[in-house]
Amino acid sequence: MADRTRVLVVGGSGYLGQHLLATLATAEGETPYDLAFTHHRPIPPQELVDAVSPVMYFRVDLCTGEGFESISTTFGKPHVVVNCAALSVPRACEVDPIEAMATNLPASLVNWLSSFRDSNILLIHLSTDQVYEGSKSFYNEEDETTPVNMYGKSKVAAELFITEHWSNFAILRSSIIYGPQTISPVSKSLIIQWIDSSLSHGEEIEFFHDEFRCPVYVKDVVNVILALTKKWISDGNQIKLVLNVGGPDRLSRLQMAEAVADYRGYDRSLIKPVSASSINRGVKSPADISMDIGRLIEVLRINPISFKYGVQLTLENAS
Ligand SMILES: NC(=O)c1ccc[n+]([C@@H]2O[C@H](COP(=O)([O-])OP(=O)(O)OC[C@H]3O[C@@H](n4cnc5c(N)ncnc54)[C@H](OP(=O)(O)O)[C@@H]3O)[C@@H](O)[C@H]2O)c1
Repeated sequence: MADRTRVLVVGGSGYLGQHLLATLATAEGETPYDLAFTHHRPIPPQELVDAVSPVMYFRVDLCTGEGFESISTTFGKPHVVVNCAALSVPRACEVDPIEAMATNLPASLVNWLSSFRDSNILLIHLSTDQVYEGSKSFYNEEDETTPVNMYGKSKVAAELFITEHWSNFAILRSSIIYGPQTISPVSKSLIIQWIDSSLSHGEEIEFFHDEFRCPVYVKDVVNVILALTKKWISDGNQIKLVLNVGGPDRLSRLQMAEAVADYRGYDRSLIKPVSASSINRGVKSPADISMDIGRLIEVLRINPISFKYGVQLTLENAS
């Protein structure tokens, strides 16, 4: 293995991608990685580039594969590729299923990886808890994947494509990722910040009491990616792994709101329970996709932090 490891973060301009790049750029007080990332917007976020430099960046469209060739010529063959790019909003996938499938099924990425002489690049691909149907608690990786919406369907198709066409991969089925805002703020709403801002107005607000997730702190997801990268670099054994990546707590949105209220000292009586089935969100949402994370703990020895602690870490430095 080369002295310096080349890591390419596809979708590095997004929420997880930015947090990952920030950690990779400062890992262990040194920089053992040569970094590159892709963006889809016309120009990469300058604050991100400044913060994680030296870094190379490339405009890539996963739907067409445009942009990958210039990575080969300038950055070269990566040792590790982390695919954080997606059409990640379920409602947007429902509105445009063709674009959802073209973006979320990374055929162009895998085809590009195949263009290198040997196929020993580690591909770490972000999937979702929404591959599960949501009709029971604590899904494990062997359970059937029966998604109820287009987002989940595109992610299942991606998982199948990768397992059939690539031999060195880790597929991370992530729950809701929460944590601090990114270096270059993302425009999408972040769950803890949204709950905090909603409750801060002192008005009653409704939260679902009957939809369950295992929200995971963003730095835990980053640690999972780092651990997989180090494992591959140090022992060089090919990986074929599907991992549930969630936090240790199975929570409804109502319970998440209570955790934020308790941390901030807001009045809990402002939080009103409502059934998820009473609201049309324009997309079907699985009821209970809580996950068993035993494999994550066993394989990587990573114990994700509690939601309560994650809320504290998210809000203690927020304005
Ligand atoms: N965030 C969560 O709560 C959560 C939960 C479960 C799973 N996941 C999965 O984790 C991964 C990362 O999520 P995230 O929250 O970081 O997503 P995100 O903030 O929505 O970022 C998506 C990234 O994909 C890029 N992108 C969009 N369309 C593209 C296209 N056609 N070609 C190339 N790149 C494109 C975006 O580029 P620009 O920003 O430059 O346009 C951005 O870098 C995704 O696979 C998501 O499905 C996320």
